[in-house]
Amino acid sequence: MTSSRNIVILTGAGISAESGLATFRAEDGLWEEHRVEDVATPEAFARDPVLVQRFYDMRRSAVLAAQPNAAHRALARLDREWPGDLLIVTQNIDDLHERAGATRVLHMHGEALSAWCMACDARHPWREPLGDNPPCPACGMAALRPDIVWFGEMPYQMERILAAVTRADLFVSIGTSGAVYPAAGFVQAATEARAGTLELNLDRSLGSRLFDETRLGPASALVPAWVEELLAD
Ligand code: APR
Repeated sequence: MTSSRNIVILTGAGISAESGLATFRAEDGLWEEHRVEDVATPEAFARDPVLVQRFYDMRRSAVLAAQPNAAHRALARLDREWPGDLLIVTQNIDDLHERAGATRVLHMHGEALSAWCMACDARHPWREPLGDNPPCPACGMAALRPDIVWFGEMPYQMERILAAVTRADLFVSIGTSGAVYPAAGFVQAATEARAGTLELNLDRSLGSRLFDETRLGPASALVPAWVEELLAD
């Protein structure tokens, strides 16, 4: 890995599991307790906005109560110390990468602590519930929605992400099941661009065989060890 200069890291719910935030597809995961069609699509929001807002109000509170773990801190250290290009692309809506100190982070599925006004298009940092339909601080309309990419919507920053993936020497996937596209396709794009590929995950993901190397275990152990290795090289 000595030749790796440009690194793209994709993170998923698994990196925040040890911070107490539920993953989606585990037995006790969010999609076992809630139907995606009821809470995470534009149609669900049109049909029952209060139910959807309450689901994200709950997730926002969980994010506010969580703390970064050793895996977030290790990536923040890598972000600080890595001399080449580095981009952390997260599917997570929590802000634990940032709270650990990372700055080169893109939230492709949106952010729990942001609200987006459907009337004037403004985005606002947001920590309060949206369930009681507060007015937009910019235009005064009660038209705020969670700033989250729902199923059927276009992930954020795709052009920038794909440009980084195709320039990467190393692509690393951490704590994601590989069930949701386009993120699940990044490993293939990276391979086609001749990047090395590494997966760090608790269980084998769906696309595990596409990676050059897979290391299985909890993120809080695997990520600090990998960062140490990379920086020592
Ligand atoms: N350390 C490392 N990996 C872990 C840990 C852990 N402590 N705990 C769980 N994992 C792994 C699981 O083995 C699983 O492969 O994290 C992965 C979590 O998978 P998902 O629950 O499917 O989460 P994710 O891949 O982030 O989901 C992608 O789906 O519904 C959407 O928009 C949502 O961004 C999300 C997307």
